Amino acid sequence: MLILRTPTEMQQWSHLVNRSNRDIGFVPTMGALHEGHATLLEHSTKNNDVSVLSIFVNPTQFNVSEDFEKYPRTFENDLDIAKKKKIDVVYAPSVEAMYPSGLSVSISPGSASNGMEGAMRPGHFEGVTTVVTKLFHAVQPHRAYFGKKDYQQLAVIRQLVTDLNFPIEIVGIDTVREADGLALSSRNVRLTSSDRAAASSISEGLFAAQNHHLSGIHASTALADVVQKHILNTQKARIEYIEVCHPGNLQTITDTSDGAVICVAAWFGDVRLIDNMELQPVQR
Ligand code: PAJ
Repeated sequence: MLILRTPTEMQQWSHLVNRSNRDIGFVPTMGALHEGHATLLEHSTKNNDVSVLSIFVNPTQFNVSEDFEKYPRTFENDLDIAKKKKIDVVYAPSVEAMYPSGLSVSISPGSASNGMEGAMRPGHFEGVTTVVTKLFHAVQPHRAYFGKKDYQQLAVIRQLVTDLNFPIEIVGIDTVREADGLALSSRNVRLTSSDRAAASSISEGLFAAQNHHLSGIHASTALADVVQKHILNTQKARIEYIEVCHPGNLQTITDTSDGAVICVAAWFGDVRLIDNMELQPVQR
């Protein structure tokens, strides 16, 4: 397994691979890898000739610089996981290598970035679209893998690739969960044990709403209420938003019959968690 540290090294490697007609799969991450990331790596190695994992804690997507400093860094453990998942290259540039002259040019995210995370975390998605663009230029993959856990990020990346004509297939991978339903996240370890127990109310609420949708209740407000009740019942959470959206453009919708995604952000203590649930279109 190779470890490459600069955009130029990465581009040179990808150039050789592309000349030999092999498909490159790519999984961008900020490290602190868990089973959710590992699942993305498995999809990449299974469906491509070679696979690249990037590990880069991107300063431009943190609106609070303290969060950037506090972000967990577990590089040696990440390398072990990458080796086990048969990754060919770990691309781990320094901040200086990625942003040698700071950040002057940046990529403005499209309309999918407007609400929810985009509204709550100003500048976040601009940082994401800019760094992902830079990573795509360095890695030049055929396919790139993103988790549905960050549903809005996936929608923003799909718009980026379509609008700027990147010749890259974006593959969305289902959220990996703990046994009690809590979506895996590097933030979960920061929950106190009572908040950890209460945090599973998010996915319980989302699964309950999915069941209501399947049983014929399609009013967005009714489904959002179901999620809200589950979370508030714990008396541990502060809900930031529960939104029922169109699964493609993320505009809010009032009826889920044609398919939807319910997105949630909630605080447990000082830990902010997000999760979501796709609702399939009703068969008519
Ligand atoms: P990071 O938070 O490290 O996540 C890397 C990828 O792992 C993302 O596509 C995310 O959606 C996916 N992921 C995280 N938890 C998951 C889970 N429980 N199940 C499935 N997939 C999961 O997202 C980022 O990094 C950054 O914004 C990045 C795209 C790398 C740009 O800096």
